[in-house]
Amino acid sequence: MKLFIDTADLNEIKELASWGILDGVTTNPTLLAKSGRSFQEVIDEIFDLVDGPISLEVLSEKADDMIKEAKQIISKTPQKYRKNVAIKIPMTPEGLKAVKALSKEGIKTNVTLIFSANQALLAAKAGATFVSPFIGRLDDNGQEGMQLIEEIMDIFCNYDIETEVIVASIRHPIHVIEAARLGADIATVPPDVIRKMTKHPLTDAGIQSFLKDWAKVKK
Ligand code: G3P
Repeated sequence: MKLFIDTADLNEIKELASWGILDGVTTNPTLLAKSGRSFQEVIDEIFDLVDGPISLEVLSEKADDMIKEAKQIISKTPQKYRKNVAIKIPMTPEGLKAVKALSKEGIKTNVTLIFSANQALLAAKAGATFVSPFIGRLDDNGQEGMQLIEEIMDIFCNYDIETEVIVASIRHPIHVIEAARLGADIATVPPDVIRKMTKHPLTDAGIQSFLKDWAKVKK
């Protein structure tokens, strides 16, 4: 399973990319607002940090405007990184039209705010490169988010659909394990959850005891 980082915090992206574990980045307007950076500042730096798909969201509601916005984002991206741009488009009928047009031009798209298998199927049919089902928000709403991933994976496998499934809105490390067990293509994970994935109390205890014993070894 590929691991994307779900943040627009450039320092976090830089640090976690240095671990050699990141395959891409997803951002959204909320994450950009939290980062305190402008959209352009993020675009200027983010592509240098991770060599993989970088999802950047459009805010327009009409297909033509989404397409225009997508092209503006691409034009502001240095030529050598344009292959890594994935335009994040909300799951609406207008969004589907934009996905179809952009995919015809070979532009990667990530259809976001997916909350049902039918939405994922429609996005895939329109030519989406990625779909992003939001499992944490479903859990928050009293629905089993991972069940949606299971349904989408079954449907995509039945028909050899090439659209990749990004498990999004991940809240804790167990979500990542479950996503991997279901064979999801990608999990996009907030930095704090990635840090939690490194941890185990027995690892810390083991290091402490090895250090203690090393001090007793004749030098
Ligand atoms: O990738 C989508 C994600 O950023 C949404 O997460 O925690 O706002 O539901 P959350």
